[in-house]
Amino acid sequence: MAETIRHEENAFTAVCERLPEIARINDQALMCATAAAFFEGHEDYFWTAPAASSYAHHNLYCCGERGLWIHTKMVFAAYERLVDSYLEQGLLGDSEANLGRAACLLHDVKKYGDEYVDGDHADRDHDVQAADWIRAEATLDSPVADAVERHMGPWYEGPEPETPLQQLVHLADMTASTKNATVGVYQPHERIRSLYPSIPEATF
Ligand SMILES: [Fe+2]
Ligand SMILES: [Fe+2]
Repeated sequence: MAETIRHEENAFTAVCERLPEIARINDQALMCATAAAFFEGHEDYFWTAPAASSYAHHNLYCCGERGLWIHTKMVFAAYERLVDSYLEQGLLGDSEANLGRAACLLHDVKKYGDEYVDGDHADRDHDVQAADWIRAEATLDSPVADAVERHMGPWYEGPEPETPLQQLVHLADMTASTKNATVGVYQPHERIRSLYPSIPEATF
């Protein structure tokens, strides 16, 4: 069952409480633009649907209820771990690193297109759908949509990642989508914690 928060009185705040990762974007304008893009671009199923219909590429938390939300938090946490290496190697600068954080939060907002029905498989072009939406509707620099479009790597319909930023978002998604590994989640919301009391937490 989808969970609509857009009509809540403090809907925008609710998004930021559910994804406190937004506040880790160290650029005020980008942080606000990312929050607005997520708020407008996500579908109601984002909070409740699983990240996948099979256990082939995901850990247990991501295959169950609220799995897509949890997966997105795991991708962000994986990215935070990996980005240090890219920064240290000089492959990314701080502003690019922040664009990658935005891309991680937005990468799967169209995972099932407009609507999720129980048992659905991910849309083959969900990477392209999300990128197209960002380009058309959001005020975000083009590297964000470009990284989202390429996050599935050689699979699915988007083109393959090329730049270090695109590679890193792809690798963070891969890391978080590993069957036998569980990345921690940053400040899990009470709705996640009550469902999965033992879910590991990420500390940055
Ligand atoms: Fe994806
Ligand atoms: Fe993903």
